[in-house]
Amino acid sequence: MNESRITVAMPKGRIFDDACRLLRNAGFSLPDTFESTRKLILDLDDEPFRFILAKPVDVPTYVEYGAVDIGIAGKDVLLESGRDVYEMVDLGISKCHMAVAGLPQHRSSNPYLKIATKYPHIASDYYRKRGEQVDLIALNGSIELAPIVGLADAIVDIVSTGQTLRENGLVEFDRLMDISSRLIVNPVSYRLKKKAIDQIVEKMIRATEGNKVGMD
Ligand code: PRP
Repeated sequence: MNESRITVAMPKGRIFDDACRLLRNAGFSLPDTFESTRKLILDLDDEPFRFILAKPVDVPTYVEYGAVDIGIAGKDVLLESGRDVYEMVDLGISKCHMAVAGLPQHRSSNPYLKIATKYPHIASDYYRKRGEQVDLIALNGSIELAPIVGLADAIVDIVSTGQTLRENGLVEFDRLMDISSRLIVNPVSYRLKKKAIDQIVEKMIRATEGNKVGMD
């Protein structure tokens, strides 16, 4: 591994285009093919940067273990993973919120509410703080299906436009927290490459101006 090179984990999928746009605004010359390639490792021609393209949920893992120096990850993924990384910048992109939702006027006959979610840690923390005992059902996607088919009484999931809830006849019961993407840094990398990382952080802060939401 080139010692002077900075390695960056990028989240594939939903956040990716927003993150690329922000990096270009920050002055990084990402090639035009960046968004369309199937390559998983991409080096910049003129700058000492290597990007890896990972599943969003895995970005904090790559960063915590030092496989890369920095990464871009949603606050939802960060809270759920509990990974030991420095959260340096609220990038203000890919904004959404975490909510409890379900069918309107649903009455549960279960002794404990059944809650389906991709975020068992966030959900269990939420219900523990409320003093409510629930049965958590971990799913990997299409969470909105669960109350409709009777698998769960409610869901804890992210809501962006609200379209998925609306089109499936679900309503929000409670709003847990605002979510946006964050720039995260490996603590050891930060010690060893502080100057280079601080420069990136400054560029990203400048690029996010106007995009910012409050840090949680
Ligand atoms: C997320 C989330 C909701 C949806 C919300 O799912 O889990 O299902 O987006 O977006 P909306 O409010 O704009 O409709 P995602 O698309 O990431 O796919 P998933 O179902 O595989 O989790």
